[in-house]
Order: sequence, then C-alpha cells, then structure tokens
Amino acid sequence: MKRAHKRVLVTGGAGFLGSHLCDRLLARGDDVLCVDNFFTGSRDNVLHLLGHPRFELMRHDVTFPLFVEVDEIYNLACPASPVHYQNNPVQTIKTAVHGAINMLGLAKRLNARILQASTSEVYGDPTVHPQPEEYRGNVNPIGPRSCYDEGKRCAETLFFDYHRQNQVDIRVARIFNTYGPRMHPNDGRVISNFITQALRGEPITLFGDGQQTRSFCYVDDLIDGLMKLMDAEGDAHVPVNIGNPGEFTIRELAELVVRLTGTGSELVYRPLPTDDPMQRCPDIARAQKLLGWAPQVPLEQGLRRTIGYFAEALGLEAPALT
Ligand SMILES: NC(=O)c1ccc[n+]([C@@H]2O[C@H](COP(=O)([O-])OP(=O)(O)OC[C@H]3O[C@@H](n4cnc5c(N)ncnc54)[C@H](O)[C@@H]3O)[C@@H](O)[C@H]2O)c1
Repeated sequence: MKRAHKRVLVTGGAGFLGSHLCDRLLARGDDVLCVDNFFTGSRDNVLHLLGHPRFELMRHDVTFPLFVEVDEIYNLACPASPVHYQNNPVQTIKTAVHGAINMLGLAKRLNARILQASTSEVYGDPTVHPQPEEYRGNVNPIGPRSCYDEGKRCAETLFFDYHRQNQVDIRVARIFNTYGPRMHPNDGRVISNFITQALRGEPITLFGDGQQTRSFCYVDDLIDGLMKLMDAEGDAHVPVNIGNPGEFTIRELAELVVRLTGTGSELVYRPLPTDDPMQRCPDIARAQKLLGWAPQVPLEQGLRRTIGYFAEALGLEAPALT
C-alpha cells in the first residue's frame, strides 16, 4: 500500500543526523518542518534545502512549548557528543527532559506518532555484552556524563508513561555510535578526532591502551533504521537498538584511518576519561526481526566517504584514498 504523504517535524533537524533525516524525508515526498536552536547544529547543514518548497526551517528551543500542526515527530534535539553536552550540563538535561515533555505533549494533542532519538548511553558502562534492549544498564547518576545518560533515560521513561497513560503512539530508537558526512570536526568523538588529526598530519590521540571497543554505524544505515522504526506497524512500542554490531578496538580504527588517509601521523596514548565505557556493541536482533533492518555499509567504505567530506569541510587536500 502506498504511504500517505505526511507533514513531519524533525527537532534537531539542523544537526548531523537530523539534516540527513530531513534529506531523506523530503526525497520520499514528505513535508518537513525542521526545528533547531543551532546550539550544535548549523544552517549550513540544511542550506541546500532552504529553497525547497516542502522544507521549512524554524529557530526554536525545545525546552519551550511548541505549537505547530504535524502528523509525525522525530525528536532528535539534544547535543550528542561529550564536549558539547558537558559544556552546559544543565541545559543538556533540560533539553532531554523538558524537550521530551514538550514534544510528547504536542504528540498527544495532535494524535501524532513520535520517535525519540535515544542512545546506547542508557546502558552506561555495560556489564552485558553485546547489549540487548532488556539490559537495564550500569549508569553513574552523578558523573560528568550523567546529564546526557540520565537525561536520555528519563526521556525514555516519559515516552513510556505517555504511552501507558495517554496512549501516545511512541517509537524509541537506541542509537549507537554513528558517523558520516556533516559530523562536527571538533566534537571530540573518536572518528572525527582521528580523521581530522590524520588529515592535518598531527599525532592521533588514543585514550587508555586503545583496546576498548566501539561499533560504528554509517549515517545512511542509521537513517534507514529510524525511518523503518517510525513506519513500523503492530507492536513497536518497545525500545529498539539501531547500530552496527561490527566491533573494532579503538586501535584498529586508528590504524584503518592511518592506512586510508596515507598520513604519516603517529599514534599517541592519553589517560582514559572518567566513565568511558570499555565495550559498546549493539545486539540488533530486535531491529532485524521487527523492522527487517540491518546495516549495509562496511566501516572502510563509510570511512572513505567521511574522510572525503572532512577534507573538503576543513579546506584540506583530499588524500588519494588508499
Ligand atoms: N550521532 C550519534 O552517534 C548519536 C548516538 C546516540 C544518540 N544520538 C542522538 O541523536 C540525536 C542527534 O544527534 P547528532 O549526532 O545529530 O547531534 P547534533 O549535535 O549534530 O544534533 C543535535 C541537534 O539538536 C539541536 N539542539 C540542541 N539542543 C536543542 C534545543 N534545546 N532546542 C532545539 N534544538 C536543539 C542542535 O543545535 C543540533 O542541531 C541526539 O538526540 C543524540 O542524542 C546520536
């Protein structure tokens, strides 16, 4: 059956993931209302959409109520990288919690389906590996990462309470590390750090001994997963992990970036930051079963595209990718 054309609100739509989501929704024929306060996002990410007849950009902070008319809501507004969310932790937790309350209130009033961009950080420093959705996490409530981790956990609580109490039609995606074009070059995350350091010929900084693992999902795969979850019918009122289960040590990632960029950068080691998880890997069995979704883009291919983007964004010469 053909999907009806919809008017879709994307909060945080001028950010890394949000801007790709806006692209994809417009491409399939939806109207998009992009709401952002430009805290970490930028008009540059959606500049190419500004003249589009079905695209609208609104400056608004989701910690304040919003009155608009839409059919669906993707709630992505929230700084996502530790340097950004720790910059103003009180604003981060307000964005996660008040933002969720405001968007859920809007969804309730409009009878609109709403998807929350939750995070693998709800699992904290996990003691179960890989992490299935049933795992309840190992989170420090008072540490420097807590404004984000606990903010997102509280947002999930709100989503499920609005569902139980008010029958709001919710979707909750637990997003694992995602990378790709339009990431912030200075967001302090491992992929952007390594690529910018390699492209500038600076030493590549590894925290700890580099044996901690991460899984990396290419942005196109992630957006596919979010849209499939939003569109899923039946009982989709459960959290769903969306990420790439391919697991790499940080050292393996550094070596891959060195090889692909052909940089002469050396690897240097620094102390591990507080509460940095040792292992992170999604169990995606639920997404596979419920959505028929699995990531398609291998790390090396995604990195090549991302390196090309960073070289252009930083005004550096693109390496002849090896
Ligand atoms: N990128 C990842 O690897 C990842 C992983 C897990 C979860 N997520 C979640 O996905 C969402 C998007 O992440 P991203 O990587 O695109 O980050 P991002 O920082 O690029 O995007 C977040 C956007 O939200 C906007 N924003 C922040 N506070 C706001 C507020 N109070 N009102 C309105 N807009 C506000 C920012 O300006 C930005 O455009 C976030 O909710 C994040 O927690 C991302």
